Amino acid sequence: MSLDRNMPIKQYNFDQIIDRRQTHSFKWDNVAYPAHLDILPMPVADMDFPVADEILEALDRITAHGILGYSIVPESLKIAAQHKIELDYAWTTSLDSQVWIPGIVPGITAACAALTNEKEGIITAVPVYHPFHLVAGWVNCPLITFEMVKEGDRWTYDFEDFERGLQKGPKVFLLCNPHNPGGTVFNETEILRMVELCAKYNVTIVSDEIHADLRLYPQSEHISIGRFEKQPIISFFATSKAFNTAGLGGAVAVIPDAALRDKFTKASAGFFSMLSRHSIEVMLATYAHGKEWLAQLLPYLRANHDLLLDFVRSTPGLAMQPLEGTYLAWIEYDEAVLGDFQKKSWEAGVHVLRGEQFKGRNFIRLNFACPRAVLEKAIERMKSITNG
Ligand SMILES: Cc1ncc(COP(=O)(O)O)c(C=O)c1O
Repeated sequence: MSLDRNMPIKQYNFDQIIDRRQTHSFKWDNVAYPAHLDILPMPVADMDFPVADEILEALDRITAHGILGYSIVPESLKIAAQHKIELDYAWTTSLDSQVWIPGIVPGITAACAALTNEKEGIITAVPVYHPFHLVAGWVNCPLITFEMVKEGDRWTYDFEDFERGLQKGPKVFLLCNPHNPGGTVFNETEILRMVELCAKYNVTIVSDEIHADLRLYPQSEHISIGRFEKQPIISFFATSKAFNTAGLGGAVAVIPDAALRDKFTKASAGFFSMLSRHSIEVMLATYAHGKEWLAQLLPYLRANHDLLLDFVRSTPGLAMQPLEGTYLAWIEYDEAVLGDFQKKSWEAGVHVLRGEQFKGRNFIRLNFACPRAVLEKAIERMKSITNG
């Protein structure tokens, strides 16, 4: 489609409330929701917003064509991903380094299966997105964790704890950048420290950058760790999280080292399904046309974030570091003041995830990627259980 420069730019309406119930939604059709309770779901990481028009048009074209056979990843998709990584994350990669996969979680699992064994496992910072620690059980290897700490207004690594963990001999460092939960967008100093430490202890870095485009502040840069590789590295990218197409899957592993790429491919052989035509067309449309939608989404998410932060800061017993990225707030509660806040929120009609799922105690994770009126309602409900 040629761009008509006189065409008005569409304004997306993120305030629009779309009923997602009875759509087989993991978030909204949770079988545990009591029928008599009107629960606001804020757990799983997808957004209650419709996707960009061009994505819907791509899906319409497939429907009109009517054939849903097997698909191959076209060169145009590989080039689109390569360009994005170069332009947006300042990392020059070759097309040969790409391995297209159905999702990042299966990719992480394959990477860990390829690189670890019963004695030498994984190191990762906690709290963290639960597959990062669960994967050790899935591939049967040891798990070493180290702590995230508050430094000023943000979460970062306890680098001394990280080094102590590295001394125990893991094979793989699992990095989540931006970090889920807590939203840290790691800066260059932090990334370089990770690179140095992993090189010192000869640990392979496996980096999940699925949230890279969800930076709440335009001035913050996404620092792709692959830019500084000193040794073989696996970096995962996907458009599915930032552009809200998670249900369709599709991701790319960038593995410049041929031997490592071979190991990864062998470990995943037979486990991954082929990418669907839907997934391929949607990724192509996203790379080509997603920018405007994202540019309108980010200020909306920022305003939701600020609303939530105001509530947390004005509520005795709750605390939260402002997020730099993602829409997944990590809220600490004082049990002595508020009791079991996750349970109380549920009873008040707000479903948030319990911190333990991410290896954090007395925290909840709240997804604020929803229309403002829904967030306001959730805040009202939480106010009713905080004496606020
Ligand atoms: C850090 C992180 N990685 C991966 C995923 C899921 O990726 P995929 O659906 O591609 O397996 C999520 C979903 O929330 C996530 O937060």
